[in-house]
Amino acid sequence: MSDPKRVDLKVKQKKAVLVAVVLPGAQRELEDPLDELKGLAKTAGVVPVATLVQNRLNPDARSCVGKGKLEELKMLAEDSGADTILFDNNLTPSQARVLEKEIGKVIVDRSELILSIFAEHARTHEAQLQVQLAQQLYMRTRLKRLWTHLERTEGATGSTGGPGEQQIEIDRRLIDTKVADLKAQLKELEQRRERQVAHRRSQLTVSLVGYTNAGKSTLMRALTGSDVYVADQLFATLDTRTRVWNIPHLGKVLLSDTVGFIRDLPHNLVASFRSTLEEARHADVLLHVVDASSPSAEQQIATVNEVLKEIGIDGSQAILVLNKADAVKDRSILDALRANHATSVSVSALERVGFEQLASLVSERLGNGFIELTLETSVSDGKLFAFLARHAEVLEQTYTEERSTIRCRLPRRYQVEVSRQFPNVHIATDESASLNDSNPPVSGHEIPFEESAAVVTAQ
Ligand code: GTP
Repeated sequence: MSDPKRVDLKVKQKKAVLVAVVLPGAQRELEDPLDELKGLAKTAGVVPVATLVQNRLNPDARSCVGKGKLEELKMLAEDSGADTILFDNNLTPSQARVLEKEIGKVIVDRSELILSIFAEHARTHEAQLQVQLAQQLYMRTRLKRLWTHLERTEGATGSTGGPGEQQIEIDRRLIDTKVADLKAQLKELEQRRERQVAHRRSQLTVSLVGYTNAGKSTLMRALTGSDVYVADQLFATLDTRTRVWNIPHLGKVLLSDTVGFIRDLPHNLVASFRSTLEEARHADVLLHVVDASSPSAEQQIATVNEVLKEIGIDGSQAILVLNKADAVKDRSILDALRANHATSVSVSALERVGFEQLASLVSERLGNGFIELTLETSVSDGKLFAFLARHAEVLEQTYTEERSTIRCRLPRRYQVEVSRQFPNVHIATDESASLNDSNPPVSGHEIPFEESAAVVTAQ
């Protein structure tokens, strides 16, 4: 009985009343404020049997819904034969406890629901560990409620210091041990991932980020011709996948698809998925994919930017990809989105429309990222030659007896690295070298993106 695993967060096939306490903000303007919760419920395999919506300025501190609505909810749960109440809101442990006690049904809040979906969808070992960690941390704050529930069903008293309290302490320690173990395993995997990402630094990388169901996987599949899984489900993708995207006139770049974001993503989950999002952090270009046909497109853009900020990524630098243009009924909606976001392009991943503009925007960004340098060094400078083999394309190399001159093209981000790591190497840009010899140590001219194609090598 003491194994915390007995407390499972599964919601599959539960009959649930869907509840939303709608607070002031954009959600209130939506036609159906339960729309997203319904999508989450469907993905989780929950069977909705009734719904209840309450507009409030603030959630009730004691029970989230107000007193009157609580009575209504109780009756609704009875009449509809529900065994679970699914909240669109996040609940404090004490709110959940009160609700569970008053209604006598299992209470599942937004975080718990999202966690259970993530647990079902995690495929790779790393994603599974990440979700388990987030679940353990979530359960740690909820032990009291889970035990109160158990004691009630067993007819125990649940008094302070009773068997319930002792059990909570035992469970807490078990969870702490499990958390430490999961963190250690993840740390190891994280280091491996960092090495992989560092290895890819010599190649141009583009990352897709966006709200769940925005169409990232569909876009990735259409752009790369790969067989990436696409589903009309939330969070179909939990793991970062990387494929080669052959951009016309530019060449091959690596395109990565990442986990989708959602409003009020459980904090533990964001923290756990940090390393999965490592690709996005190091990407040369970030593509922020939006479902332009969604009435909450702007809200979703803001949510994604918030989550990106939380993991240390500046979302304002991303190219906004207004996807599902085919499903946008009113053209002025697209125009408004484009007017609000300077660097944006509208596409339909499904109908493969708008890809040329998208490719040219990405090329432009990537093209700006190259520099051409001429380096002069000793013929025995193995360290520099190894660095160039990893990160640059050598265009020309000439030798005298002791010296070697190398003309090369490399991503601009390595410019500082060259002068830092090789202070004794003479560095010049082709342009200025031909004019005089007293050029600044590391400056260069822009390479038109068509020319830069050769530097990119596919994995
Ligand atoms: P997550 O895995 O939740 O992050 O989703 P995702 O962003 O990868 O979305 P996915 O590519 O799985 O697409 C979600 C749904 O949107 C699927 O049913 C797609 O067929 C649909 N979809 C994607 N792109 C388009 C589009 O351009 N137009 C239309 N009409 N539907 C699209």
